[in-house]
Amino acid sequence: MKYFIVTYGCQMNVHESEKIAGILEGMGYECGQSREDADIIVFNTCAIREGAEDRVFGNVGNLKKQKKQNPNLIIVVCGCMTQKEQTASYLLKTFPFVDIVIGTFNLPNLAYYINAVKSGRQKDIWQEGDIDETQPYSRSSGDNAWVNIMQGCNNFCTYCIVPYVRGREKSRKEESILNEIKALIAEGNYKKFTLLGQNVNSYGNDLSDGVNFAKLLRDICRLDGDFTVSFMTSHPKDLSDELIDTIATEPKVEKYIHLPAQSGDNRILKLMNRKYTHEKYEEIIDKIRAKIPNCRITSDFIVGFPTETEEEFMRTMELVEKVRYDSIFAFMYSPREGTVASQMEGQIDEKVKHERVNKLLALSKKIQKEDNKS
Ligand code: 5AD
Ligand code: SF4
Repeated sequence: MKYFIVTYGCQMNVHESEKIAGILEGMGYECGQSREDADIIVFNTCAIREGAEDRVFGNVGNLKKQKKQNPNLIIVVCGCMTQKEQTASYLLKTFPFVDIVIGTFNLPNLAYYINAVKSGRQKDIWQEGDIDETQPYSRSSGDNAWVNIMQGCNNFCTYCIVPYVRGREKSRKEESILNEIKALIAEGNYKKFTLLGQNVNSYGNDLSDGVNFAKLLRDICRLDGDFTVSFMTSHPKDLSDELIDTIATEPKVEKYIHLPAQSGDNRILKLMNRKYTHEKYEEIIDKIRAKIPNCRITSDFIVGFPTETEEEFMRTMELVEKVRYDSIFAFMYSPREGTVASQMEGQIDEKVKHERVNKLLALSKKIQKEDNKS
């Protein structure tokens, strides 16, 4: 029996697909080469922008014929999209040949749902849950091992669906993270550990033992072994001096920070609920550059946030020009149902969003070219 997993979205999802693979291998499935020869196909979905959701709808829809030819094929849709009850019921209604639709919190129970389908039942359930540490991972990212350190987000940036589909911040216990990494070092296959969380800088805030992200990093560096460690993603409002010092002084920590700015304009940043100004952001960048020469810095930007004027967009261009990022991701704002920004007046025309995203990407490309040359 073969499985095939299609993953959309961020590294968190890539890592969760390794868990899905672990669960399926535990049930006797092997990794297949294509959808066509699979007995079970899993779509691990992303809800961050409309485009990501549309791709899932298209790809799931395309399986209708395959399911007709092979009624024993099991089709699973899981991840952030299906954590939203409305989207999950829409999926079930529109694509009745899909067998299992489960949200992010239900992933550890995947084997249960597959067995339920095999015995003729279909399940779709949502629940709030704890971080799962019970299910195995089948890692497939070469000599890099993803290590989840926390789930969820408390920030409620007004454009973002993540807090709704991933719940509130929950940190894993430090001991359990260290034990996982120790075991991975002992396996001998990994040269790099990438710590994952929606906002790693607030790691430990919900724990009572006084651990924070900088301490976790230092404790990981103290483990014996020849490896490097990196992490994503950082929120500028929580990036502490202690963390910058730790990155600067620990040889095992990669000199790389992904620090999403989202916008260079203070009014837009406020509307986004980002809790910093562009001046504050630039201050952090200056600190990083002063303490960690040659640190790679990358960022995310959203253009066409509701009411964003041409002038305000130019503030974003100016920030990119000033910081000279190693690379950036630029996204056109995509209204997500249930978020504050999706209800705001002054939604921006798609054509304008396109123009702005192209301008921003062109600028960043030009800067990279110049810097590569030098
Ligand atoms: N529209 C466009 N981009 C978004 N992001 C998050 N939500 C949205 C949205 N509604 C972007 C942010 C974030 C990255 C992962 O995705 O830039 O940092
Ligand atoms: Fe979304 Fe903001 Fe949380 Fe990042 S920090 S996951 S953008 S709500």
